[in-house]
Amino acid sequence: MGTIAAVLGDITRQQVDIIVTAANESLLGGGGVDGAIHRAAGPELAEAGARLAPCLPGRAVATPAFDLAPVRHVIHTVGPVWEDGEQGEDDVLVSCYVESLLLAEELEAGSIAFPAIATGIYGFPAERAAHIAAMTVRSLPIIDEIRLVAFDEQTHALLRDALAEPVEEWCPTCGEKAIPLLFGRPVEEARQAADAGSVALGGCLLPEDGTEPRWQCPRQHRWGESRRDQRRSQVALHDAIAVTLGEDHGRSVP
Ligand code: APR
Repeated sequence: MGTIAAVLGDITRQQVDIIVTAANESLLGGGGVDGAIHRAAGPELAEAGARLAPCLPGRAVATPAFDLAPVRHVIHTVGPVWEDGEQGEDDVLVSCYVESLLLAEELEAGSIAFPAIATGIYGFPAERAAHIAAMTVRSLPIIDEIRLVAFDEQTHALLRDALAEPVEEWCPTCGEKAIPLLFGRPVEEARQAADAGSVALGGCLLPEDGTEPRWQCPRQHRWGESRRDQRRSQVALHDAIAVTLGEDHGRSVP
């Protein structure tokens, strides 16, 4: 399992394969972290971005990193403009991290650095965004080294605390503490975690009612079909596997 870390610093100085920028739909650059990355990468970044624009909120596209070498690629993702939290802003922000991670995996990146997407000019509340960033990358640790880069102490503390937060779930029926429930053929590590009693295996067939519960309690109650449950149970699954394998959850926190 790789590492996920909250880092305090300038994202343009991160020695990683991919740097993610918090862009706007034009991909021509702007202020904030996007401006810093475009300044460091040089004018070719905007030219390459213009050829891929527009990029819709929640989507991600990749260009070369030009003068940012040895960084190989810049992934441009467009965060949600915060309104009131009722306009789907959370889902768009989750999508920024998921789409960027999936694209980085396609590019065979070994390391990636994210800024605190949408928390500047776009006004997304910093604590809510930090929790979404941490839970989303913890639920999808498909790149060996993931850095969440903060430009200020407050954001760094929020990201650090969100990464360290355990995911706990209790049964809505009997109140017992739950474990993540996994359907399908489990990987060996998940099987080991199941043998240790920290993961439940649901077998290869989903329930006939079409649901896919993500939690199970010691009394075999099952629940949780929402996307949020899916993300949280994935984090709990990865944490349970890390504990079983004796790893530090992969979340080194410098
Ligand atoms: N390194 C790391 N983080 C940085 C840096 C930097 N050099 N510069 C700024 N940040 C941080 C900000 O402090 C903030 O926490 O990046 C976070 C995101 O802020 P913004 O850059 O304002 O991005 P966002 O809120 O997503 O707004 C995007 O702003 O720059 C324009 O073109 C961009 O229109 C788009 C909008």
